[in-house]
Amino acid sequence: DTGYFTYDPGFMSTAATKSAVTFIDGDQGVLLYRGYPIEQLAKHSNFLEVAYLLINGELPGAGEFEKFEHDVTHHTMMRESLKNFFQGFHYDAHPMAMCMAAVGSLAAFYHDSLDINDPAQRKLAAIRLIAKMPTIAAAAYRYSIGWPIRYPRNNLEYCSRFLHMMFEVPSEPLQMNPVAAKALDLLFILHADHEQNASTSTVRLVGSTGANPYACVAAGIAALWGPAHGGANEAVLKMLAEIGDAKNVGKAVERAKDKNSGFRLMGFGHRVYKNFDPRATIIREMCHKVLGELGVKDPLLDVAMELEQAALKDPYFVERKLYPNVDFYSGIIYKALGIPTEMFTVMFAIARTAGWVAHWLEQHETPDAKIGRPRQIYTGAPTRDYVPADKR
Ligand code: SDX
Repeated sequence: DTGYFTYDPGFMSTAATKSAVTFIDGDQGVLLYRGYPIEQLAKHSNFLEVAYLLINGELPGAGEFEKFEHDVTHHTMMRESLKNFFQGFHYDAHPMAMCMAAVGSLAAFYHDSLDINDPAQRKLAAIRLIAKMPTIAAAAYRYSIGWPIRYPRNNLEYCSRFLHMMFEVPSEPLQMNPVAAKALDLLFILHADHEQNASTSTVRLVGSTGANPYACVAAGIAALWGPAHGGANEAVLKMLAEIGDAKNVGKAVERAKDKNSGFRLMGFGHRVYKNFDPRATIIREMCHKVLGELGVKDPLLDVAMELEQAALKDPYFVERKLYPNVDFYSGIIYKALGIPTEMFTVMFAIARTAGWVAHWLEQHETPDAKIGRPRQIYTGAPTRDYVPADKR
């Protein structure tokens, strides 16, 4: 009651969004993509098959995956003039800023030709976005290190193609690393969708106005960049590097408990999971396996493990059900794959594009979808009369 008028809580309750794409049980630590447990998809599937599942609602049957993969592969190139787009940035522009702008600019190429009421054209736009995100992401990285932007190689599968565009050295053939491509594919599966998280809700809100999908995904990239959301994976590595050594972990935990410190354990806590984030469990195991297979020894992994153990034993974190989330270990694997820290959230955006476009398509296929128009609880001044300047 603001003294202005009393709100009827029932009136102010916002109906939750209906969606059939992903299910999360935060108390049980359950995550299902179209009914399939994330653990099974992580073990048996691949990112493009998961993207097909999220978009179409079913795993691809005979020939369906091959057609989907062909369609994605043949939309990986970006318009040549888009390469000049990157020249407009300072070399040290953050790659998330470049990706957000470049994806938004796809609307300039495809907006007029896109009949948003045609399901086939909506599906094509979704495929274009899944196909072009790695090309745009790699272009942003190559521009930032002053190297020539590389064309996608259609003879490579999705993750190998991305790694080739990222790391191919013009003067010598790239040694493809199957361990790196497989690890990346698994990380992309784990990051592909996550119900109504902030960036997906942003895509749905923008999409509800009838805006084109390129503008919707650009808005999703903007929301994902925040350190409380997708930007956390970059923030975790910075935090671990700042802690520096396992012996400093106790101090970091105490700092994170001090409300006035402004310091939080990045990669810990979640709006929904009040139990382990099932993705974090998979990524933690993956960390050891991938670093072992790559022969990488990263002292930050020891710091991360020590920090996790210390926090999981501390009543402050236990009482608040603060567990490691998807971002806690992922950066250590990205680092082992040679991905620079400022590209970590871009990796998240590549994977989450599958979820974003699945939700965007679902919204258009849901006849009763209305324009997103959240209500508010007014806490401002009551009605009052204007005061002339000489009377103030
Ligand atoms: C992602 O929504 C999604 O699904 C997101 C995501 C996805 O796949 O899309 O899962 C990806 O964004 C994961 C989250 C990545 N962000 C971080 O790791 C940043 C650090 N985490 C926090 O900022 C925080 O935990 C949030 C934002 C993730 C969740 O915040 P909540 O649920 O709103 O928790 P809260 O802010 O209400 O905190 C509850 C209590 C508070 O203390 P009290 O006021 O009760 O005393 O826990 C404390 C907070 O101060 N707390 C933390 C903490 N997170 C919460 N204290 C120290 N370190 C932390 N990380």
